[in-house]
Amino acid sequence: MCGIIGFVGREQAAPILLDGLERMEYRGYDSAGIAVRSETKGLQVKKTKGRLKVLADLTHGGADLEGTLGIGHTRWATHGEPNDVNAHPHVSENGRIALVHNGIIENYMELKEHLQKLGVTFKSDTDSEVVAQLLEYHYNECHNMLEAVGRVLRRIEGSYAFGIICADYPNALIAARKDSPLILGYGRNGNFIASDVTAVIKYTRDVAYMDDGEIAVLTADSVDVFDDELVPVEKKRSTVNWDVSAAEKGGYPHFMLKEVMEQPEAIRKTISPRIKNGRVVLDEISLTEDYVRELSRIFIVACGSSYHVGMVSKYNWEKLLRRPVEVVLASEFRYCDPLVDEKTLVVIISQSGETLDTMAAMREAKRLGGRTLAIVNVVGSSIAREADDVLYTWAGPEIAVATTKAYTTQLVLMDLVGLYLADRLGSVEQKEYDVILSEMQQLPEKMQQVLCHKENIQYFASRYFNHDSIFFIGRNLDYAMGMEGSLKLKEISYIHSEAYASGELKHGTISLIEQGTLVVALGSYGPLFDKAMSNVVEVKARGAEVLALTTENFREKMEKTADATIAVPVTHPILQPSLGVVPLQLFAYYVALQRGCDIDKPRNLAKSVTVE
Ligand code: M6R
Repeated sequence: MCGIIGFVGREQAAPILLDGLERMEYRGYDSAGIAVRSETKGLQVKKTKGRLKVLADLTHGGADLEGTLGIGHTRWATHGEPNDVNAHPHVSENGRIALVHNGIIENYMELKEHLQKLGVTFKSDTDSEVVAQLLEYHYNECHNMLEAVGRVLRRIEGSYAFGIICADYPNALIAARKDSPLILGYGRNGNFIASDVTAVIKYTRDVAYMDDGEIAVLTADSVDVFDDELVPVEKKRSTVNWDVSAAEKGGYPHFMLKEVMEQPEAIRKTISPRIKNGRVVLDEISLTEDYVRELSRIFIVACGSSYHVGMVSKYNWEKLLRRPVEVVLASEFRYCDPLVDEKTLVVIISQSGETLDTMAAMREAKRLGGRTLAIVNVVGSSIAREADDVLYTWAGPEIAVATTKAYTTQLVLMDLVGLYLADRLGSVEQKEYDVILSEMQQLPEKMQQVLCHKENIQYFASRYFNHDSIFFIGRNLDYAMGMEGSLKLKEISYIHSEAYASGELKHGTISLIEQGTLVVALGSYGPLFDKAMSNVVEVKARGAEVLALTTENFREKMEKTADATIAVPVTHPILQPSLGVVPLQLFAYYVALQRGCDIDKPRNLAKSVTVE
């Protein structure tokens, strides 16, 4: 959700903090702030409601704040409305300690009341200010900042990544984490903390991932990490191997469009290293043949678009494995007393690897004795590190809030895993296995063909952008794909939209279809094309305007009935959603563009949902 950054070094901190925040603005964007310390001016804080641009203008690009030590924050409000006062950093009552926070302090009310009884006055409605005030209280007791942080961490409950500076420590930046991401960056001219590697990649590729309960003390030349007992910890450093341009727009008007266009390459990178001599090779994981044979249940657990990948995979895996597969929303799984034991495989899907509900669901699955396999995009993220096995989607950094390339790489990776498991179970015929694998290798090329016709989709968007309610209908894989198409549209264009299994229309939903209602009818799943056609006829008879999506071989048939038709190349049915979803992503993008929406940063949303 929020993004935090900190820098201590030999350069002016404010411009570096603003630059890092700009790269993390997708994490939250309702307010922003920075605090910088200098010898002459002490602690200087500037924060404001609104986008980062407002803060950058207010501080003249950071030039107004002098000092080489500082912290910054871009906010997605949880406690207290987005305004200047609730924006971070929060400063303790005596003005000597400033703090930025990502996460939620669950017992903040009780702590706040306790401090109020001691006479502390609060300015904001946030849970985070309570921590700043509590720090001052404990610092006054022990006069040692590290010790004070340790005492505070023992009193607070919830999730946090903190960046802390104190006027009495002119050269030190303090950080702590539990259940919210935080990385350490080792630079030549100073050291960093950040919620995300993207914030520091311009300055250093040398990073380490903080673990839960750890506290770090950074100076310009050193980074010392301690566990929750304040015992020093040796950190393993890693090198970030993607290029800084991967997190820039590269000439595109929006990250979303850039990321849509990057999909063929992202898919190639995700599948190529895992197909060798006509076989799926997953050296990264350790599921033995015996374990796979003994499996009694498979769960797929995720949120949002990642959950939609799970929906597609349920259909595909059940076909390939002939075993029951259950897809559960992570936010439900964690509280539904799931039937998990040591013969249960729980597949966790997450782009960010930090989604709180997904992480909690994974921990619950592990607690119950299940084995967890995570499909994650962000290397070194919490889910990736805690899962029993992890497979990365090599999509590269995804910045737009609406996921696209992460979704399609998750789809193909899940198909690969499905094939791998089916092979071990002997539940897929060799011929079928070979065809799917060969078709999968042609996906990047076929997807490129879809992208070459993006102007057609733009045209349809210009025809339909002013509808205020849109239905996506489809059966089987088309239904699962429609869920993603509908989410994409609603999250960035704010048009009300629902996805329905076509067979369910007559059980209620069809009453909503009237003259001119736009229905996006999905008929790309070959085995059920005739049924899809019947549903098109059904809604047309009630006055619907139909935009249909099908495959090239059915284009002619569909064109005879639908008002507008988009056709994608044919591939194996289980892979079809990977191609079919691309026009739906583009449709959402161009509709949002026509409506003048803020595509990369839709209202009320954030890229990484690290609160419950
Ligand atoms: O990072 P995750 O894959 O765990 O995120 C899950 C959802 O929050 C995410 O897919 C969300 O639905 C997207 N913004 C949709 O485009």
